[in-house]
Amino acid sequence: MSSGTREISSKSTKSRQTAPPVSSAKASATNNSSQEAIKSGSVASAHLLPQLPYPENSLEPAVSVKTLALHHGKHHRAYVDNVNKLVTGTLFAGLLLETLIRETASAPEHTQLFNNAAQAWNHAFYWRSLRPPSDGIVPPALKVRIDASFGSVDALKRELAAAATTQFGSGWAWLVMHGSRLRVLATSNADSPLTRDLRPLLTIDVWEHAYYLDYQNRRADYVSAVLDKLINWDFATENLLGS
Ligand SMILES: [Fe+2]
Repeated sequence: MSSGTREISSKSTKSRQTAPPVSSAKASATNNSSQEAIKSGSVASAHLLPQLPYPENSLEPAVSVKTLALHHGKHHRAYVDNVNKLVTGTLFAGLLLETLIRETASAPEHTQLFNNAAQAWNHAFYWRSLRPPSDGIVPPALKVRIDASFGSVDALKRELAAAATTQFGSGWAWLVMHGSRLRVLATSNADSPLTRDLRPLLTIDVWEHAYYLDYQNRRADYVSAVLDKLINWDFATENLLGS
């Protein structure tokens, strides 16, 4: 699945892999590792649709209440429901989404489970990557890293916009931590930085369902509105600092 991940910025060279933000399970698709994950306690009960961290109308006008209600209430819910159906009665039952993603990322026989688990996780991360319109001030701890890796916040926004608008078909644009550097990635379909053990800081959903009701085919306008108004830099900073 990681072949669908496209690096946009390559300023970070020869840096060490950072620890992923969640889960301690090893990336393999064997029954043994699933059992070990269960024994280690990295398990959860049935997966639940997380509540939005803000009211459905609070991202307007950049993202309408109609889009947000459908995106969260139908699309995200379907991914979560599908995960629960697919793991029922299997060794994957009870595993955290992060564990499921890593367990199935390189297992073609589990592509359907990977896609739904990754989409469930990606959407939960996306909602938290956004916030109601704000002044957009980037906390100093994150701004220092952005300046070092991209030159400025505006330069990072341009790289994120390029990643989001040039991603062919469905996918995601990400700001990730790789060693001591920040990078921008584009991933296709359900793919995620978790399959590469990169630490995601924020993401933008560029599936058509994220913007089509509001912007039709004008993905660039949606991306611009999100970057200008809705990015939750505090959430990205929390992820940077590992809290
Ligand atoms: Fe989506």
